[in-house]
Amino acid sequence: MTQTVAVLGTGKIGEALLSGMIRAGWRAPDLLVTTRRPERAEELRTRYGVQTVTNAEAAKNADILILAVKPQDMGTLLDELAPHIAADRLVISAAAGITTGFIEDRLAEGIPVVRVMPNTPVLVDEGMSVISAGGHATPEHLDHAEAIFGGVGKTARVPESQQDAATALSGSGPAYFYFLVEAMTDAGILLGLPRAQAHDLIVQAAIGAAVMLRDSGEHPVKLREAVTSPAGTTISAIRELENHGVRAALIAALEAARDRSRELATGNG
Ligand SMILES: NC(=O)c1ccc[n+]([C@@H]2O[C@H](COP(=O)([O-])OP(=O)(O)OC[C@H]3O[C@@H](n4cnc5c(N)ncnc54)[C@H](OP(=O)(O)O)[C@@H]3O)[C@@H](O)[C@H]2O)c1
Repeated sequence: MTQTVAVLGTGKIGEALLSGMIRAGWRAPDLLVTTRRPERAEELRTRYGVQTVTNAEAAKNADILILAVKPQDMGTLLDELAPHIAADRLVISAAAGITTGFIEDRLAEGIPVVRVMPNTPVLVDEGMSVISAGGHATPEHLDHAEAIFGGVGKTARVPESQQDAATALSGSGPAYFYFLVEAMTDAGILLGLPRAQAHDLIVQAAIGAAVMLRDSGEHPVKLREAVTSPAGTTISAIRELENHGVRAALIAALEAARDRSRELATGNG
């Protein structure tokens, strides 16, 4: 049976999902989108040939509703949707820090809700989307969410209690790598390379290392050992990283991100 999917609040993440679904073979007539601004609706109609509808129309007509508004807009959106969503619909939320309980409490009893934490590389089909079931969602509902988010990268299932940890690892994860690239580019400048060239060398090293990690199946320690010859250059650098407590700093940083995610989820902004 063909299912109709609506993206509600089609901004950056919503558009990435929409284009991923179209590339994965969903037909434009089965996709509905909602926007706040008419000019954004026109843009999406022209670009993808999808129908733009109101939130209420999406709630009435779509089998699967993907909520992709900012967390602070979620309450208003749910108020608009609540009177129109039937119990056999699936609601998938991509909003950071919004629990399935928050959504379930605002909709009719029994509506299945799935929570997904994507990250920005969904924009280039290399996302990591971490998926959790709410109180009424079944494994089949999780399969639907995976089919959609799998079009823009990888997916993983975790219990909702681990969503804050996942946010610290993969939600915020890309930022840590950008931070490293920025710092290593500065180091390149200190060593006398022009900024643009230092940037290119580091970015390609990052891409090469990422592909090796993903495709070789080797443990990171093995990959690092292969670059670390006795009395060589790499071990001199590693000693400095250990002296400066970089490993401990990363563990503390991710713990802080996890704690902040928990705070935000309890409305303690
Ligand atoms: N970007 C990320 O890295 C990232 C990562 C993980 C999760 N997320 C989550 O994904 C969600 C979307 O993020 P984003 O970066 O895509 O934000 P965004 O670009 O601002 O997209 C949200 C869109 O929703 C529209 N909107 C707001 N209220 C609406 C309503 N009542 N009806 C219809 N449309 C409405 C906004 O319209 P306007 O254009 O008029 O504001 C905007 O276009 C957020 O909840 C965020 O937590 C984002």
